[in-house]
Amino acid sequence: MIAIMLALCTGLAFCACGAKEKEVVEKETALTTVGFSQIGAESDWRLASTSSMQASFNATMGYRLVYDDGQQKQENQLKAMREFIDSEVDYIVLDPITELGWDATLMEAKEAGIPVILVDRQVSVEDDSVYTAWVGSDFLLEGQRACAWLEAYLSSISYEGEVNIAHIQGTTGSSAQIGRSDALEEAAEQMGWNIVAQEDADFVQAKGREVMESMLEECGDLINVVYCENDSEALGAIEAIENYGKTPGSNIAEGEIMVISFDATEDGLRQTLAGKIALDTECNPNYGTVAEKLISSLKKGEIVPHEYYMEESQFSGLSEVNTITVDGKTYDVTMVTDAIIAGRNY
Ligand code: AHR
Repeated sequence: MIAIMLALCTGLAFCACGAKEKEVVEKETALTTVGFSQIGAESDWRLASTSSMQASFNATMGYRLVYDDGQQKQENQLKAMREFIDSEVDYIVLDPITELGWDATLMEAKEAGIPVILVDRQVSVEDDSVYTAWVGSDFLLEGQRACAWLEAYLSSISYEGEVNIAHIQGTTGSSAQIGRSDALEEAAEQMGWNIVAQEDADFVQAKGREVMESMLEECGDLINVVYCENDSEALGAIEAIENYGKTPGSNIAEGEIMVISFDATEDGLRQTLAGKIALDTECNPNYGTVAEKLISSLKKGEIVPHEYYMEESQFSGLSEVNTITVDGKTYDVTMVTDAIIAGRNY
């Protein structure tokens, strides 16, 4: 009898133990759910950033990615955030379209115990503990580097005429717009450049073309530089300049219109190689790997940095300026080639 009871007990213990092991294995193989609120699909750069996230957060990597396309509207992103909170995702990744308007929703996520990683753009909030970390670009520095290049280039060709800039902005109130616009406005004041037109084209190619068309209508004879806040806008502006009968190029003394752009996407760099974009300052969309590393550290209970800046470069087809300096720091300007374009992933 004792032997039977012992056998039964051992059997039960074995069963219980097996169930526990199964539970552990299931827990270990369970996917971590990440809700990703993306801004939209307004530019090639944006598509590259979505691909970067999808490549880093998938079942092979141990994640279930719940992707939401905000279609360029903050209200859609706020709705997506609420759904992520209600469905108790493990982590939220948010690329905020504009800087303002996130305090309440981010606080809700914090109170629900869901860490939020911001990517690409930043938020302006009263209490920055409402998000766990941010990874993205230094948009002000990008703009400062572009303006430092323009200054260096004009001096390298001993250009002494007026600099009349058409400024095609990105989505008003977004970090990318704020940083790049601030840099230009500050440089224009210091250098005596004129910003003769300024308008938002929402980082979209068709709007970039329309905005450039109307600027050319209004002051086409004056404009000799166009500062576009992304490649999509630059591609649209180039179309408009050519349709207007002018040439996008660096010889502004001879009536060409110089286009300056941001992102360094494949199409942007092709136009840089062709001489239609004079300078393309990189905005690096490959933050998926960094966001994944942050989440994987958080899962282990580790402390992560609150801010992480992506490495970025700048490209030109013009050989006059090889380096530029901003705030005492020197940055290389890479001569764009077919091989460089082929070696990039966006
Ligand atoms: O926030 C990054 C900017 O947004 C990129 O420059 C632009 O292409 C995108 O739409």
